[in-house]
Amino acid sequence: MWWKDAVVYQVYPASFKDSDGDGLGDIPGLISKLDYLKDLGIDVVWLSPMYKSPQVDMGYDISDYEDIHAPFGCLADMDELTHGLHQRGMRLILDLVINHTSCQHAWFQESRSSKDNPKRDWYIWRQPRYDASGNRHPPNNWRASFGGSVWEWDEKTQEYYLHYFAPEQPDLNWDNEETRKAIYDSAVRFWLEKGVDGFRIDTVNKYSKPAEFVNAPVTEPGSAWQYAYPLFCNGPKMHDFLKEMVRDAMDPFGEVMTVGELPCTPDAKEILRYVSARERELNMVFHFDMVYLGMGTVWKYIPEPFDLRDVKTALGKWQRFIQGTDMWTTVFAENHDSARSITRFASDAPEHREASAKLLALMLTTLTGTLFIYQGQEIGMVNVPREWPVEEYKDLETQNFYARMKDSTGNDPKEMNAAMDGIAYLARDHARTPMQWDDSENGGFSTGKPWMRVHDNYREVNVQKQLGEHDSPLMFWKHLISFRKQYHSLFTHGLFTEYGHDNTALFTYTKTLDNCAVSSTNGESMETIETKALISLNFSNSCKKVYLPEDCKAATIELAISTKDGKVESDTLGPYEGRVYWVR
Ligand code: NOJ
Repeated sequence: MWWKDAVVYQVYPASFKDSDGDGLGDIPGLISKLDYLKDLGIDVVWLSPMYKSPQVDMGYDISDYEDIHAPFGCLADMDELTHGLHQRGMRLILDLVINHTSCQHAWFQESRSSKDNPKRDWYIWRQPRYDASGNRHPPNNWRASFGGSVWEWDEKTQEYYLHYFAPEQPDLNWDNEETRKAIYDSAVRFWLEKGVDGFRIDTVNKYSKPAEFVNAPVTEPGSAWQYAYPLFCNGPKMHDFLKEMVRDAMDPFGEVMTVGELPCTPDAKEILRYVSARERELNMVFHFDMVYLGMGTVWKYIPEPFDLRDVKTALGKWQRFIQGTDMWTTVFAENHDSARSITRFASDAPEHREASAKLLALMLTTLTGTLFIYQGQEIGMVNVPREWPVEEYKDLETQNFYARMKDSTGNDPKEMNAAMDGIAYLARDHARTPMQWDDSENGGFSTGKPWMRVHDNYREVNVQKQLGEHDSPLMFWKHLISFRKQYHSLFTHGLFTEYGHDNTALFTYTKTLDNCAVSSTNGESMETIETKALISLNFSNSCKKVYLPEDCKAATIELAISTKDGKVESDTLGPYEGRVYWVR
């Protein structure tokens, strides 16, 4: 179970590094940065979709699983990438996007060509409904993830097809065995045979559709399409499908790492079925409780308030959930679908940005589970400035939200200002601005015009600068990753206990050795044994006294690490300071 101790780094290929000056990141660009990742302490690269795609949803709309989006490179580049990682003792996982394909995939092209095409049933087609006046309607009122109906009318064959995401992303029909076999061959085996080490599995709980497409409850009166997301998830055959895929397409390749994207699954019993080792489905899943904080339910980008107690609840839930079980979990605060964590959970004010970056890093690296870092997080990248106009945002979800708000408010200036506040706070675009490598033009990302504007702060926030500063967020991350590995029984596998939950400024917890946890490094351990650590994190902009829990009072307390690097004063934490103490 090598994947338990792995530190994973997510690369969003469009924005990581451009090697040929076309303004778009690419695989050779990524290859040129492998030494950087190795030096940081990364064990696994998770590469977001690099497959052939019309890029309606940045590659999550795949038109050929067995080919590469030409501006990103070619199959030979992928071989070189896999080889380059393996040579350095690192591994590669790909994004497995198999709930849907692009509408340009050959399978869908065939499926839509006629009602009696052999691949018609590979997607989900339904007859229209007609009202009393003879008007045509889709089968139900579900709103798609990016807005509009989940049903798209096909003029030629006079039926609707289902798409949980954009109309250009038709959902595959997993009930059809032939379809499933084709997915396993093309999307899974093809890449395992090429030597990749596993998959991040996109939207993993939506393949099995309900027997009946009943209407969702009306939560937005006056709108034709209603929020139905929970109805998309965890359908009746989900577990049969996953077991089959793992058994038939993955197990023959040995220990394949799998991490599922599992939204909308608050029920612990349901999660157990996905990640209990004895179920033989997934190694682990992403729990979104923390990343969802502040997002609106009806309008995702109309923020709702939260405070540190909610963050603690969200994180503590999954720390405690796996204790004493055969399940495993993940630790992360960012990905390509979320805005930057410093802006959302700490402070991106210039005077607090670096401290906040280190505080969050200290929190993440001391929690139990497989650790995932998103590109740019290690240098403390933050959301783009509020002043950026909506045109700078490229994501279809942002653009659709803005258009819907405009439509529903009659372009009311106050409402549109609030919509822009929401976008500036929560949009997915914040994670997608180009990586900031140095202070040259375009932050060293590209010599051409970047596909998306580079963050204005690239001269202050970039890799090259931080490599030269011993107390920078980047150097702190590097130190913390090696610290986590050195004490992996405590931090990656230990037991989590929280204290002072109601404190809205301080997050206090201990990690203790879990005697039942099986170390998974198979003798390559660099382990040093400590039995208990106290972690004290100040999420406020004023000084706070370290909270010493009752069960630590009789012990000897020794400072192990602080975000303030040698400038630690007494038992008082500075603004956004975090510390780890050994408790002996
Ligand atoms: C989840 C992916 O992370 C997201 O970026 C994408 O838009 C949807 N799934 C659809 O594939």
